[in-house]
Amino acid sequence: MVRHDQTSQVTYDIARRGDQGTTHYEYWDYGAYRTALTGSTQDDMAELWRARHGELAPYTALVADAQTAGRGRVGRRWFSLPERSLTVSALIVLPAALVESAGWLTLIGGAAARRALSRLAGVSCNGTELKISWPNDVVAVSASGEQRKVAGVLGEYIGRAEETDTLAAVVGLGANLGLTEDELPTPTAASLRTAGFEVPDRGEVVRAWLQELEERVGAFGATGDPRASGVLEEINRECATLRPNVTVGRPRDTPVIGRGVRIVEDGSLIVASTDGEVVVTSGEVSLFGDMPRAVTAFREPTAGPEATR
Ligand code: BTN
Repeated sequence: MVRHDQTSQVTYDIARRGDQGTTHYEYWDYGAYRTALTGSTQDDMAELWRARHGELAPYTALVADAQTAGRGRVGRRWFSLPERSLTVSALIVLPAALVESAGWLTLIGGAAARRALSRLAGVSCNGTELKISWPNDVVAVSASGEQRKVAGVLGEYIGRAEETDTLAAVVGLGANLGLTEDELPTPTAASLRTAGFEVPDRGEVVRAWLQELEERVGAFGATGDPRASGVLEEINRECATLRPNVTVGRPRDTPVIGRGVRIVEDGSLIVASTDGEVVVTSGEVSLFGDMPRAVTAFREPTAGPEATR
């Protein structure tokens, strides 16, 4: 386990891209640094890693009360409300040899978020459960089977440190904690509050997510194997996408409709459709699929009109 010196009170000043000033992060808790306002914690972590990666411990996290340019998967914008949402990005370091399997970090980030939120939010007053929606969302599944998105994870490769032969990635979590029904942006979104759960303190969620991340990434990094590390089994067990009548949207292709059957070793989802079994790779629906090709460049956001929360 990585220990952070909670008395050191380090601060980070991160120059925002495009000459938009500086974001000031203060030490918060458990390896997390907090700011009131920034563009995107994903961009800030990439910037921080480029400037000071020699000093950054794995699982260092940046938390913003508010983001002006929050990014979701496949170029969507990510909206959040101060105090009612959690927006956090964590630094992940893996042996460079695992570059081809690092797409698993997104799924691991989602599994860690589901577990952390479930641990803290208690039992819903109406029988709702928190599950993984492949590849990287946490959904509230009601007793009648309706699914609504509570949280999303975005994984991005940020670079390789030659001196330690490691790769660095940033895994970001956006979670709807205390939003009311009126504050939800779409009919398919939910918050812990609207799903009938306790609303935990943001800091507690950050701490629990980092612990769950560390446990899973540690096991994955040590074995390089999603099955041996237990994450493949957990994701299959907790995945709400493994059911009949699933529609998997693919930004670069037509949607696949059928029964979600299982998630396999490379992180792909198998869907039994009327045309037979179709393999949907997580790369088709998440940015992390492009990761090994973005070896030195940081990906520019391609914000589209669609927004998620
Ligand atoms: C998705 O569901 O599309 C993923 C959403 C990820 C949002 C988080 S909020 C913290 C971090 N900073 C960002 O700009 N995005 C991620």
